[in-house]
Amino acid sequence: MIPFNKAIYLKKAETYIGETLKSSKIAGDGKYTRLCTEWMEQRFSAKKILLTTSCTAALEMSAILLDIKPGDEVIMPSYTFVTTANAFVLRGAKAVFVDIRPDTMNIDETKIEAAITKNTKAIVVVHYAGVSCEMDRIMEIAGKYHLPVVEDAAQAVMSRYKGAACGTIGTFGCYSFHETKNYTMGEGGALLINQEEYIERAEILREKGTNRARFFRGMVDKYSWVDIGSSYLPSELNAALLYAQLEIADEINQNRLRTWEAYERGLRSLPVDLPFVPQECLHNSHMFYMKVKNYIQRQKALRYVREHGVGAVFHYVPLHSSVGGGKFGTFVGEDRYTTKESDRLIRLPMWYGISEEEVEEIVGKVSDAIERCGN
Ligand SMILES: Cc1ncc(COP(=O)(O)O)c(C=O)c1O
Repeated sequence: MIPFNKAIYLKKAETYIGETLKSSKIAGDGKYTRLCTEWMEQRFSAKKILLTTSCTAALEMSAILLDIKPGDEVIMPSYTFVTTANAFVLRGAKAVFVDIRPDTMNIDETKIEAAITKNTKAIVVVHYAGVSCEMDRIMEIAGKYHLPVVEDAAQAVMSRYKGAACGTIGTFGCYSFHETKNYTMGEGGALLINQEEYIERAEILREKGTNRARFFRGMVDKYSWVDIGSSYLPSELNAALLYAQLEIADEINQNRLRTWEAYERGLRSLPVDLPFVPQECLHNSHMFYMKVKNYIQRQKALRYVREHGVGAVFHYVPLHSSVGGGKFGTFVGEDRYTTKESDRLIRLPMWYGISEEEVEEIVGKVSDAIERCGN
């Protein structure tokens, strides 16, 4: 079976992890956390970037920093990963789902305004497959109603919108360095803070509610409990793994892009819809997906390719149709595309280093599947 994902392996990572182990400084905020953070701050020009234990942790931190409380409403797409919603639901908010655009599978920016009520406290957007949402329009609406925007950029590290790095446009950006992402530390993420006023509290929150970061900078004599908080900082071992990849981030990007383009070339003559990348978006080739005719064809085609050695998968079950979504959320407006488009989607294997032959084989099997599973 050609797997759906393979975690990146770099010899350099072994060296960095070994060196960290020998130093016996394996808790968080050491040398490699600093190197990763500096690298990102240079590349992405956020006001502050904090390495976290996951994108979920960064989303939870955003919710706390925005003071989300029971009764608040948070607008987001239903077509997303569960923690986009759960991070806010954990604070007592209601998830308010709006429809997606069928071309990018991102939140439909024209549907956001109608979902805003006096209880709305934030807009959360998801840059699906590393292709940015229509941020100019979204920031304009947010500005009009004085709402913060959280960018769930779990899949969009190194993606850009009109030149700006995804994650640096809203109030906060949340990156994922999970095993399945372009750059990984096993489990991990980052919080990008784009407004100065949140930095100090974010540091406290990440360090169990203490002012430990100020203590290390020599700004207080000893550190103590000052606010609510949790443990959101990752181990140095994970940071060492990530840093080895960040050093060759452009090469990883290029390699994935070659795969993405090979899929595009190989599949474009088939009767399927392929990803659309608006002109103002530079994507990071996080994912290659295709959309077949409907749910039935999707299930048949998936079964066929999997039986023929291709580890293709699908996702997400829209949140509003899940058990949790029923309890903690509500869909506003018409579900014109969320269910229909997600039912048609198939994701193809994609990882750094997948060979041309493997991609060719996948294209061949997918082409056979579409021909045989015509519905
Ligand atoms: C859109 C989106 N948001 C959030 C997450 C959660 O990321 P993490 O596993 O780093 O918490 C994911 C993970 O797949 C994701 O795709």
